[in-house]
Amino acid sequence: MAELPTITDGWLVADDGRISAFGPMSTFDPELEGGVAEVIDASGRYVLPGWCDPHTHTIHAAPREEEFVDKINGLSYQEIAARGGGILNSAAKLRAMSEDELFLKAETRLRSMMRQGTVAVEIKSGYGLTVESELKMLRVAKRLKSALPLRIKTTLLAAHALPVEFKQDRSAYLDLILNELLPQVEAEGLADFIDVFCETNYFTVAELERILEAGAAKGMSGKVHVNQFTSIGGIQAAIKHDALSVDHLEVMTEADIEALAEAYARGDTSEPIPTLLPSCSFFIRIPYGPARELMQRDIPVALATDFNPGTTPSGNMNFVLSLACIQARMLPEEAINAMTLNSAAAMKLADELGSITVGKRASLIITKEVPSLAYLPYAFGNDHIDTVLIDGIPVRS
Ligand code: NIG
Ligand code: FE
Repeated sequence: MAELPTITDGWLVADDGRISAFGPMSTFDPELEGGVAEVIDASGRYVLPGWCDPHTHTIHAAPREEEFVDKINGLSYQEIAARGGGILNSAAKLRAMSEDELFLKAETRLRSMMRQGTVAVEIKSGYGLTVESELKMLRVAKRLKSALPLRIKTTLLAAHALPVEFKQDRSAYLDLILNELLPQVEAEGLADFIDVFCETNYFTVAELERILEAGAAKGMSGKVHVNQFTSIGGIQAAIKHDALSVDHLEVMTEADIEALAEAYARGDTSEPIPTLLPSCSFFIRIPYGPARELMQRDIPVALATDFNPGTTPSGNMNFVLSLACIQARMLPEEAINAMTLNSAAAMKLADELGSITVGKRASLIITKEVPSLAYLPYAFGNDHIDTVLIDGIPVRS
């Protein structure tokens, strides 16, 4: 992961939205330039693959800054949830909001993320928690796919919190998800992946297994929330069920890391990609995922924002880059690989995004003049981006 191939003084040609050729200036054919419709002079700047953000809850009704103040006053995430805040608070607001209004709010957020360099994003449901409202969220995501140029992958996260209506009968909620919601999601082609918040006071490992099995039967790989607050065996179960990614990983035992190391050492092609969410750790003051320990054991790492109103009110991958380096001690090259090629893989997009490769999408970031790659995470909180192209077309210039 520390290897980030770089060409100093290079050129790149995009044609029909794809990278058609690139190389060092010594190999550039001026005749080719004659046939190029538009030239962007990137002297002194970096051209990078655009950021891929494989874990977000970008569709939500409203921010929850009142809980932010509760947290400053000393309440924990779990205490706030126990008082009716948290995910259930967001669900109540989302259920009351029209599909059109939800669409407009998410569209605004995504436009701002594109300007910050994000060219692909995964979006989860999980604030509906009824058949109707979960479908509403996923239909909004489907509309966003055709309205915006960035690539969007969608995930069914109906098992995000147990709705109050099911407090006395949790298995009835699982039945509702699997027997009523999932078939409709499949029929309308609304979700690529399936997720579950496997956590003390949320969903158990046995429930995670049931959900991943049902998803697999519909061709939907798992991308699961595990080990955010407690280690209860979600990683081992996700490995067993060939999940695509295991996300969060703030609280990891030696056995959890060992399980991932063994899966990678076996060399199966289906081992889950650990996806760390440093801006969530930052915002709710929990440990950072053990990036260094994972990489030392030859386990790859991906990075994502986790954009959501409760634990990460930010969809800015540039801030994730700084936190990954500053707090999780990833090298700049490792972190950039984690938020391009590895994060593309964490949403099955590595064949079209995540690196500068002939045939991949010309979805690129051109930085301002910066002295080095390390300067990007180093000078945190500053905007280092000059131009963002998606499929060769500027979304910011
Ligand atoms: O990834 N932990 C579960 N889900 C979100 C938080 C959801 C919320 O608080 O609204 C997360 O951190
Ligand atoms: Fe999340």
